[in-house]
Amino acid sequence: MSAQADLYAVAANPVGHSLSPRIHARFAAQTGEHLHYGKFLVPREAFDDSVRAFFAAGGAGLNVSVPFKAEAARLADRPSPRVRLAGAANTLWLERGRLRAENTDGSGLVRDLLERHRITLRGRALLLIGAGGAARGVIGPLREAGVAEVLIANRTIENAQRLVELFHGDRLAACTLSGLGAALSAWRGRDWLVLNASSASLTGASLDVPAEAFAEAVAAYDMMYAARPTAFMAQANAAGCPRTLDGLGMLVEQAADAFACWRGTRPDTESVYRDLRGELIAAAG
Ligand code: ATR
Repeated sequence: MSAQADLYAVAANPVGHSLSPRIHARFAAQTGEHLHYGKFLVPREAFDDSVRAFFAAGGAGLNVSVPFKAEAARLADRPSPRVRLAGAANTLWLERGRLRAENTDGSGLVRDLLERHRITLRGRALLLIGAGGAARGVIGPLREAGVAEVLIANRTIENAQRLVELFHGDRLAACTLSGLGAALSAWRGRDWLVLNASSASLTGASLDVPAEAFAEAVAAYDMMYAARPTAFMAQANAAGCPRTLDGLGMLVEQAADAFACWRGTRPDTESVYRDLRGELIAAAG
């Protein structure tokens, strides 16, 4: 690519596994946008300086991933309302010398659920597992999409209660994972969606969640993705969940929303999603 291509990157640590360069290269080819997208391994203690140096050297935009999303939100001059509410940003770019920040994780998740998987969100009850940064980032967009009621189940109850307070508590409740059986008794007959926003799948740990949380759900969605079903998906399947989904579509959709922030055009995602799924499966043998 020529020297004039606008420079983008994913800033993370570690960054080696990231699929973002492959996704954005496909978006650029599809839309004809002249850009180069790379991987930026940021030292853990030097996020601010590294990001400032990237933009000072002419960089056009960054995606931000683990563990820097909260730092990205703090660093921005112009965080969007979504970034303020989520306390996290995954997309940065310069506009007239000021650093703008957006969070496209929630919008990407909503689009994946609605358009790829055809799961109705309006009026839906949502069982959200986990109460860290990933959970906080998606509650606002899910509520905006019409999710009627959210039960946040977390290993540490205080963290779930903190999210309930942050989102003002309306039709929002907290419980522990082991207390889910009792909490869900009020939902008998409802078609709820289970969403895993905990990081348990990263370690392959299974969650201390009663089987009925999955058996009576319409679907179980893991925000993580892998070539094979994640530990969470395997657990949901074993408990009798009728449908399990991973977060590969969310990854592609959040990337397309970031691309739209930067370039003003939203690429088509379906072909990119299908290619990546095929590549993941092929790589796993
Ligand atoms: P992220 O930004 O990915 O959300 P985080 O803010 O560290 O990361 O939050 C991780 C979430 O996964 C938390 O809800 C955590 O539960 P605690 O609040 O009790 O720490 C949850 N989590 C991580 N490992 C887990 C496990 N093995 N079982 C259950 N929950 C787990």
